[in-house]
Amino acid sequence: MKHRYYIATMGCQMNEYDSDCLGQLLMNAGFVPVKNHENADFIMINTCTVRAKAQQKAFSLLGRMISLKKRKPDLILGLMGCIAQQEGSDLVKKFPELDLVLGTREIGSIPQILDRIMAGHQKVIATDLSIKRPSIDWRNDYFNGRVKGYISIMEGCNNFCSYCVVPYVRGREISRSSQEIIKEAKCLISQGIKEITLLGQNVNSYSSMEGKDVIKFPMLLKRLSSLDGLIRIRFTTSHPKDLSGDLISCFADLENLCPHIHLPFQAGSNRVLNMMNRGYTREQYLSLVRKLRNIRPDFAITSDVIVGFPGESEKDFKMTLDLIKKIEFDNLFSFKYSDRKGTVAEKLEGKIDEYEKASRLTILQSIQKEITLKKNKSYIGGLEEVLVEGESKKGGQLTGRTKTNKVVNFNCNLNKLGEVVKVIIKDAFINSLQGMQIEEQ
Ligand code: 5AD
Ligand code: SF4
Repeated sequence: MKHRYYIATMGCQMNEYDSDCLGQLLMNAGFVPVKNHENADFIMINTCTVRAKAQQKAFSLLGRMISLKKRKPDLILGLMGCIAQQEGSDLVKKFPELDLVLGTREIGSIPQILDRIMAGHQKVIATDLSIKRPSIDWRNDYFNGRVKGYISIMEGCNNFCSYCVVPYVRGREISRSSQEIIKEAKCLISQGIKEITLLGQNVNSYSSMEGKDVIKFPMLLKRLSSLDGLIRIRFTTSHPKDLSGDLISCFADLENLCPHIHLPFQAGSNRVLNMMNRGYTREQYLSLVRKLRNIRPDFAITSDVIVGFPGESEKDFKMTLDLIKKIEFDNLFSFKYSDRKGTVAEKLEGKIDEYEKASRLTILQSIQKEITLKKNKSYIGGLEEVLVEGESKKGGQLTGRTKTNKVVNFNCNLNKLGEVVKVIIKDAFINSLQGMQIEEQ
């Protein structure tokens, strides 16, 4: 009988991509996926540790899987991703039920590791950060039924923002070759993928030495954008300090590069930006926003912000609110500062108490909510091209996204999966737009 696997994925899109890579490698090794974890012989939890809350969520899931293992002692239980990388062998000391701890660059070792575990029931801890992971040969039908796909183009981070654990758990920046990426993109397109999001902790610093040439991110985008059948390209995440003029021009020049960028600003006060080691000022950030909106006024900009960084004064916080009001982001992901083990900020004085952080977050989120709604309402009456992704969550409608990444739901009885449909926007809410399809002649 074939072994059955189940992967629970938490955290960012990079983790989703990593889980797909693991899934494909497991299938190559003869495993089959199951939808219900209770039926699995091997369970892997792919974890995130960017904030304390993400870590707590992962441990609570691990607790539930451990109870299952107590009932099913033959179950192989593994933990991968950022917590696995950071905690390594400490995890098996704390949780003796764990059979496997797989670091962020060790995915390629999974077939040999499982052989070892299944042969002798020994525990394996694999957390080498110095290795480069292999490219995956996606099976012909792996992406069946999906419209959107991810490709990791680089991983790791050299920036060491003072609050962030990522450089410690994802290692130094390493870019894949453009040939490898293009090969993977062609494979995804041949399986029906219409939209590809390029992933990396800092995609703007993509750099690959190929022969005598150095391929930078704008060049990679140009090469990918000319691939037949690729309707949309997106990328995430960008660092403002590396958003070059060349890259901004790509948005004007490349038809299928979507006019949306996720550009985390983190704080609106130069004093805090400096303490965060972000490498740009509020004024430089504003200038980037102006350049992007010069390309087209409805250019969608989303961002991340942290409130309550150590030493953040009332005045600093007001500067953040002021920046949010000035820029009017399409959407904003906002977080309370969370101490992470081993970071510079963990050792800073002036920690803000939880109550104050929560109150700042509430104020900020209520301001942003109005801005998001106002932005969404500005779409009412307009004509949008929607790439259809499937049925809407509530059912009975199709759902897809605009080029600017807004979710649009609309009535349609035809199967339009993977097609671009013209839709008039009739109503707007905080998380989605309601549209009506224009009848084709
Ligand atoms: N505390 C709070 N938020 C954080 N982020 C990263 N590290 C921390 C931390 N220690 C946020 C940043 C980043 C996003 C992915 O998570 O805003 O852009
Ligand atoms: Fe973390 Fe900064 Fe690197 Fe982003 S750029 S992953 S916030 S260290």
